[in-house]
Amino acid sequence: MPLHDALLRWFDRHQRDLPWRQAKEPYPIWLSEVMLQQTQVATVIPYYRRFLARFPTVNDLANAPLDDVLSQWKGLGYYSRARNLHRAAKAIAEKHHGQLPSTAVELLELPGFGRYTAGAVASIAFNQPVALVDGNVARVLARLYAVEGATGEKLREAKLWAKAAELVSLERPGDWNQALMELGATVCLPKGARCGECPVRDECQAQATGRVEAIPAPKVRAPRKALRWAVAFCERDGKLLLGQRPAKGLFGGLWELPSAELAAKSTAAAALTKLFGKKPRTLTRLGKTHRTLTHRELTLEVYRVQLTGAVAAGAYQALEWVPHAEVSKRGMSTAMRSALDDVLTSSGKSRKPAGARAR
Ligand code: ADE
Repeated sequence: MPLHDALLRWFDRHQRDLPWRQAKEPYPIWLSEVMLQQTQVATVIPYYRRFLARFPTVNDLANAPLDDVLSQWKGLGYYSRARNLHRAAKAIAEKHHGQLPSTAVELLELPGFGRYTAGAVASIAFNQPVALVDGNVARVLARLYAVEGATGEKLREAKLWAKAAELVSLERPGDWNQALMELGATVCLPKGARCGECPVRDECQAQATGRVEAIPAPKVRAPRKALRWAVAFCERDGKLLLGQRPAKGLFGGLWELPSAELAAKSTAAAALTKLFGKKPRTLTRLGKTHRTLTHRELTLEVYRVQLTGAVAAGAYQALEWVPHAEVSKRGMSTAMRSALDDVLTSSGKSRKPAGARAR
């Protein structure tokens, strides 16, 4: 059977029942594609449902404060996705009457839309014959056409985008793109590919030459950078001092216990004195939390800090004394949330019922 018929027929029979596949509107399709870019399907599903319940339309999202959006995103990571989603919603509300534009060219003008997202929304929501390549599609096409090279290599990516453009179905572009992604996600797996279940194995050059496991070549990855922060747990009158990070960069726009990077020979006292522009009155070590991020090994060393008088925001966008009951409403990275939970649990201040956390 020709490639297109075989793959589309397989998709019709075997596609997973995912909540965004019932969506008729472009907005939920866009949202799902943004969430799925760096996050697995199983993790995305509850976030997708909650996000849509909280912001049912583009206009609801555009009118919401950024902090609410970031707070809904908490735990999904890559927060620039949420900030761009919010900025794009505002642009769509202002320039397109709250309706997503239907062509990839117009979509590419919006914040956060790259080639992939524009292709996904144009093809899935508007049935435009536009190609896309994500990690799954790249692997499927690389194996089908024996495209060599490692993930991330420019020449390989260019060849794969060209192949995807050549192949995109004119009749069912959205289903075609999703079928390629679905095949990559469920059959053409990075390790242990299920070639016995593959509807297009007869067309597959990697299969024919015994190179399925060899394609793609493993990525050469830079080692993660070790990053150590001194973190200040600073209370006053039942309130906790929180800082909001600058919009750009690591954990951009998120709230946290005020933190200072600890260079190799620096002490927490020196780093926090620099951060606050004054010497803490007292400094007591509370504990340590470790987190592996995509590009970093992050260690948070938490100190109870007493400060006198006013404190300046320094590099933070804002520094605020936040009542304990409201802290959970601020968008915080998972790493910081976990460090804070550890402190609150060991000091008996946790609002979670006893035994709620696996320890
Ligand atoms: N990964 C990202 N978007 C997807 C989609 N629409 N279908 C299957 N896998 C995906």
